[in-house]
Amino acid sequence: MKTELKFESLQSLQAELLVVLAADASTSKDKNAAAEPVLLTSDSAVASADKPALTSGEFSATACETLLLYAPPELKAKRLLIVGVGKAAKLSLPEIRKAAGAAVRFAKPRKIRQVTFALPEHDGLDLAEAARAAVEGAFVGDFDPDTYKSDRKDRSIEQFTVVAPASAKKEAVEAAFREGVVLGESQNFTRALVNEPGNRLTPTMLGERAAAMCKEQGLPCEVYSTDKIKELKMGAFWAVAQGSDEPPALIVMRYEPTDAPKDGPVLALVGKGITFDTGGISIKPSEGMEKMKYDMAGGAAMIGAMRAIAQLKPKVRVIGIVCSAENMPSGKAYKPGDVAIAMSGKAIEVLNTDAEGRMVLADGLHYAKQLGATHLIDAATLTGACVVALGMVNAGVFANDEDSYDHFKKALAISGERFWRLPVEDEYREIIVSDIGDIKNTGGSRYGGAITAAMFLKEFVDETPWLHLDIAGVAWVEEQKPWISKGPSGVAVRSIVEWVRSYEK
Ligand code: BES
Ligand code: MN
Ligand code: ZN
Repeated sequence: MKTELKFESLQSLQAELLVVLAADASTSKDKNAAAEPVLLTSDSAVASADKPALTSGEFSATACETLLLYAPPELKAKRLLIVGVGKAAKLSLPEIRKAAGAAVRFAKPRKIRQVTFALPEHDGLDLAEAARAAVEGAFVGDFDPDTYKSDRKDRSIEQFTVVAPASAKKEAVEAAFREGVVLGESQNFTRALVNEPGNRLTPTMLGERAAAMCKEQGLPCEVYSTDKIKELKMGAFWAVAQGSDEPPALIVMRYEPTDAPKDGPVLALVGKGITFDTGGISIKPSEGMEKMKYDMAGGAAMIGAMRAIAQLKPKVRVIGIVCSAENMPSGKAYKPGDVAIAMSGKAIEVLNTDAEGRMVLADGLHYAKQLGATHLIDAATLTGACVVALGMVNAGVFANDEDSYDHFKKALAISGERFWRLPVEDEYREIIVSDIGDIKNTGGSRYGGAITAAMFLKEFVDETPWLHLDIAGVAWVEEQKPWISKGPSGVAVRSIVEWVRSYEK
C-alpha cells in the first residue's frame, strides 16, 4: 500500500473514493432519541453533497456505519463514503483508526484500489495525531490472511491518501503521518509472520525472517541454535526445544544508535517464539490445536517492533531477543517430573510440558540481563487463564516496577491498544515452590493461572524493572470486525514501540 499526504480542499480533489467521517452530535441520554449526524469537515462542498442523505434519518453515524454516494454533486471525487465514528462528544483516536480501517475494508471487496481519507476536523482533536491514527488504521484494514489461496486475488489498496486541511500545521502532520506508515507496516509485518503455519515457519525460518528484516533495516542480528543454547547453559529453553526434530533459534537483534546517552537505559524486548505448541508430552486436545501456530505472536511482535524502532530511530539502545522452538512430544521430549536447570542456575521442576512458554522466556529474560539490559519487557501468548480472566478485548500486563508501568501507560495512550494490569505479589509465589527443586512450571491448579505464570517469569528478572505482556487472548482475532480481518492482530507492536520511545524523552 502506497501512502501519500496532501494539504488541499476536498472540493477540487480527484478521487476514486473520498472518505469523510461523521459523528453523532446528539447529547441526549434517551436511547430512542434520533441521532444527529454531522460531518467532521469544514468543507462546504462535501456538506451540501450529502445533505439529503444525512438528513434522511437513515444514517446515524454509529461507529463504522457506512453510507456511499456516487458522483457527489459539486465534488470531483467519483464516490463519497461517509463513515460513522459514534458520539461526537466521545470522539478520540481509536475511533478514527477504526474508521480508516473500515473505509479500506469497504473498498477492498468492491475492487476500489485507491482510498482518499479526509482528516476529521473536530474541537480538541489534534490533526497530526489523527493523521497517524488514520494511516495505522488503513494498514490494519488492508491486511488479509488468505496467503495460500490458490486463486488469491490481491485486493489490497494500491494508494491510501490522507488529505489535511490547507490550514493544518504541515510539519507536525507530516511527521505523524510518517510514523503511522512505519507503525502500520511493522504491525502488518508481524501479522504476516503470525499468520504462517507451523510447517511454513519453523524456528529456523523465523530466524531467517528476522535476519532478513534486520539486514534490510541495518540492524546487527545474530541467530543462534542448539550449540549456543547449550553453551549458554539455557537448560529451560533447551528442555522445550529437545523434543522436536526442528532445531531451536535464539534470535538476537540490536539497535545501537550512536546518539544514545552512554549511561542511558538499555531496553530488552523478549518474545516467546513457539512456532507450534502441541503441548508436548502433556499434549493438548486435538480440537482447536491448529491455532497454536500463533504461539510465536509475542516473538513476532518483538521482531516487528525492532523493525519500527530501526526506522523511527529513538535515542535509546534496544536489544530484541526471541526464543523460538517447537513444542513437540517425542522420544526425546522433556517429560512431567523432569528437572531443568535454567541459565540462572534455578532448578525448575516440570509439572506440565504445555507450560513451555515460561520455560523459554526464563532463559531469554536472564540472557537479556546478561547482555546488559536495564529494563525488560516480554510478550507472549502465555496462558489460557489470561483469556479466561480478560476475554479477547484486553491483554494482560504485569509489572514489578511502577516507573516502567507508568511509561507503558503513556505508551498505551498513544497506541490505543487495550491492556489491563494484573498483580504480581509475593503471596502468589508459594504456589510455584517445588519440593524437589526451586520452582515448578505450573501452580497445579487452574486458579490464577496467568498470575502464577507471571510469578514464574519474575523469578528470572529479580530486581530488574520488568513488564510482562500476556497476549494470548488478543493476538488472534476470532471474528472479523469492520476494521480488521479475522486472524493475527499484530497486537503489542505499537505499544512496545511507544514504550521504547518514551525512554528517550
Ligand atoms: N500457548 C499456550 C497458551 C494459550 C492457550 C494461548 C490458549 C492461547 C490460547 C501455553 O503454552 C499453554 O499451553 N499454557 C497452558 C499452561 C498450563 C499448562 C499451566 C494453559 O494456559 O493451559
Ligand atoms: Mn503450551
Ligand atoms: Zn504455548
